[in-house]
Amino acid sequence: MMPQSNNDLRQVRNYPEQPPLIPHKTDGYQVDLRSNKCLTCHSRKAVGESQAPMVSITHFMDRDGQFLASVSPRRYFCNQCHVSQHESKPWVGNTFVDVDTLLQKKQ
Ligand code: HEC
Ligand code: HEC
Repeated sequence: MMPQSNNDLRQVRNYPEQPPLIPHKTDGYQVDLRSNKCLTCHSRKAVGESQAPMVSITHFMDRDGQFLASVSPRRYFCNQCHVSQHESKPWVGNTFVDVDTLLQKKQ
């Protein structure tokens, strides 16, 4: 396996709703019923010390749109949506363009 990217540079999102990519290593980070390593830095309480960006307000919403006091169970398993990256070349080509590029082309 290629090493995980760990350059701490936050990546541009390809569209506004994209879960941001993780710009640091996450190997060995435990996320299960007992503990959530991610929240030790990204929770509301932790960011003063960790200086990590706080999970956004959507992470506190339940499916009825109500805001809970802590991270909602549906946002607990961070890696369902957020992924770290590897320093490797893509195996296959890709012609994806982001929405701004697409809008520019149309004019
Ligand atoms: C030791 C503290 C720490 C832990 C643990 C940690 N992070 Fe981070 N994370 C950071 C910091 C600090 C940043 C800001 C960029 C940087 O310095 O890497 C960051 C950046 C991010 C970003 C980018 C946010 C953006 O707006 O671009 C995501 C997503 C993220 N982390 C997700 C996770 C997930 C998921 C886990 C658990 C698997 C995790 N982090 C564990 C400290 C941490
Ligand atoms: C169901 C998908 C999903 C799960 C699960 C999830 N996130 Fe997110 N996350 C997103 C999306 C989408 C965004 C960007 C839009 C937003 O802020 O809601 C985001 C944004 C973020 C950001 C950037 C916030 C900002 O204001 O820049 C951080 C940090 C983050 N998530 C961390 C986490 C951590 C830590 C967990 C686990 C406790 C987690 N996320 C679980 C989808 C998810």
